[in-house]
Amino acid sequence: MTKTTVLIGGSANSQIHLDASMANRHGLISGATGTGKTVTLQILAESFSSIGVPVFVTDIKGDLSGLTQPGKPHVKIDERIQFIGIEGYQQRARPAVLWDVFEKQGLPLRVTISDMGPLLLSNLLELNDTQSGILYACFDLADDDGLLLLDLKDLKSMLIWMADNAQQLKSEYGNISSSSVAAITRKLLVLEEQGADQFFGEPAFDLADIMISDFSGFGLINILDATWLSSRSPRVYAAFLLWFLSELFENLPEVGDAEKPKFVCFFDEAHLLFDKSSKALVEKIEQIVRLIRSKGVGIYFVTQSPLDIPEDILGQLGLRIQHALRAFTPKDKKAVNTVAETFRPNPDLDIKQVIGLLGTGEALVSTLQADGSPSVVERTLIRPPESQIGPVDDNTRQDLIKRSPLYSRYFQDIDRESAFELLKKRAEQKEHQLQQSREQQELEKQRLAEEKANRPRQSAGRPRQSFAEAMIKSTMRSVGSTLGRRIVRGLLGSLLGK
Ligand SMILES: Nc1ncnc2c1ncn2[C@@H]1O[C@H](COP(=O)(O)OP(=O)(O)OP(=O)(O)O)[C@@H](O)[C@H]1O
Ligand SMILES: [Mg+2]
Repeated sequence: MTKTTVLIGGSANSQIHLDASMANRHGLISGATGTGKTVTLQILAESFSSIGVPVFVTDIKGDLSGLTQPGKPHVKIDERIQFIGIEGYQQRARPAVLWDVFEKQGLPLRVTISDMGPLLLSNLLELNDTQSGILYACFDLADDDGLLLLDLKDLKSMLIWMADNAQQLKSEYGNISSSSVAAITRKLLVLEEQGADQFFGEPAFDLADIMISDFSGFGLINILDATWLSSRSPRVYAAFLLWFLSELFENLPEVGDAEKPKFVCFFDEAHLLFDKSSKALVEKIEQIVRLIRSKGVGIYFVTQSPLDIPEDILGQLGLRIQHALRAFTPKDKKAVNTVAETFRPNPDLDIKQVIGLLGTGEALVSTLQADGSPSVVERTLIRPPESQIGPVDDNTRQDLIKRSPLYSRYFQDIDRESAFELLKKRAEQKEHQLQQSREQQELEKQRLAEEKANRPRQSAGRPRQSFAEAMIKSTMRSVGSTLGRRIVRGLLGSLLGK
C-alpha cells in the first residue's frame, strides 16, 4: 500500500504529518476562541481535497468560504512556511459547493421527514415516550397506506387525522390521545417558527452529489453555512448532523484498510450535537462513530473544550489537535487536566504549562502511528492554508452559488404530491361533488328511510373509514382553521417573548 500523508505543521525538530490511512480514525480540534481552530480545520480540509478525498464541513461563522479562493501573500505566512520547511507551497483555491438551509448563503439543503425518521424527529422535538410512540405509529401508518411524508405539512395533516380516528386505529397502532397529538403539533409549530419548514422537503440532499472529485482530482469540499442554523435552530442543526451521520453509515459499503479515507466530515460547534441530544441518541452517535470507520469515513469534531465531547466518543478520536486553553475557571482547569491526561506524554514537554502558552495557529498535536497507537504529543506550528483565510464577499458568494454545477438541481422548490397535497386536492374534488349532489342525497335519504322502515334490522357494524376518506375530512378542517393556527402562533410568540 502506498503511503499518503497530510502535512499538519512543524515542531521544533520535524514536520508533523497525518498518515492518510489513519484518517478514518477520526479526530478532535479544540481550543479557546481565536486560537486557530477554524484555520486548522481549513488546512485539513484542503489537504484531504488535495489527495482526492471529498469533504463536508459545517461553517459556523461563514469564514470557510475562503477555501474557494487562492490565499494572499503575507509575511506571517512566509514565516510559517519557512519555519515548517514547506516545499512547493502555492496559493490555490479548492473546488467547493456552498450549502445553506435558509438558501441565502448557498444552495438549499433539505431532508424529507421520512428520511429523518421517527427517532431523530422525536429527539428534535423533545417528545416524551408516549408522544414518540405516536410519532412511530404515524410513520407506520404512512408506510402502510403508501403516503409520502415529505414536509411538515404532511406530518401535521397525518397527525391530525390520527387523532380524529384514534378509536379505529387503536387496535393496530395503539393509543393515540388527542392531547398528546396536540402536544406534538405544538412542538412542530415551534420548530416551524425556527425555520424548520425550509429544512424539510425536496429536493432532498443526495450523498452521491457531494462525494465526488473534480477533473483535476481534487476532492469536492461541501461547505454548509451554519451561521443561522446553529444560532437560530441549534436543534435542527444537531438533527441534520445526526441524520447525515446515519445516512453515511447506512449507505456506504464496508471498505478494508485503505490508503486514504473515502470521505471526511468536520463538525464545528460539536457541543451542540451532544448538549441537545438525549442519552439514547448520544449512545447512537457513539456507536456510529465507532462503526463508520470501517466505511472509510473520518469524523472530525471542532469544539472549545474536550469536555464538550462525551468520554466514549473522545476515546475514539485518533488525531488530537489542541490549541491554547486558558485555565481561569475550575471547568477550564478540569479541561486542561483532561488534555494532559489523554495525550501520550512527551518527556520534553510540560503539557499543563505549554497549553496556556501556545500562540495563535499553534497547537499540541498527536497523530496515530501505523500500529494505531498515538504518537508522542508535539508542540506544533500549524501550516498556513493555501486558500484564503476568512470569508469571501457577498458578490463572490452569490457568483459561486449560481455557477455551481448543482445549482439547477437543488435551487428549485419541489412540492411533490405527498400526503397533504394529494388529500387536499381530493378533498376539494369531493367538496365539489358534494355540492352538486346535495339535493340528490336529500332524496336518497328519504328513500332509504322509507326502505329501512319496511326492512328487517341489520348489523350496525361500520367498516373502517379508509385513510384517504377520513383524511379528506380532517384536511378540510385543517385547511379551514388557518386562522386558529395564526392565533396559536401569536400566543406562542408572546410566550417566547418574540
Ligand atoms: N495555521 C495558521 N496559519 C496562518 N494564520 C493562522 C493560522 N491559524 C490561525 N491563524 C490566524 O489566526 C486567526 C484566528 O484563527 P481562527 O479563526 O482559526 O480561530 P478560531 O479558534 O477558529 O476562533 P473562534 O473560536 O473565534 O472561531 C486567523 O484569522 C488567522 O489570521
Ligand atoms: Mg473558528
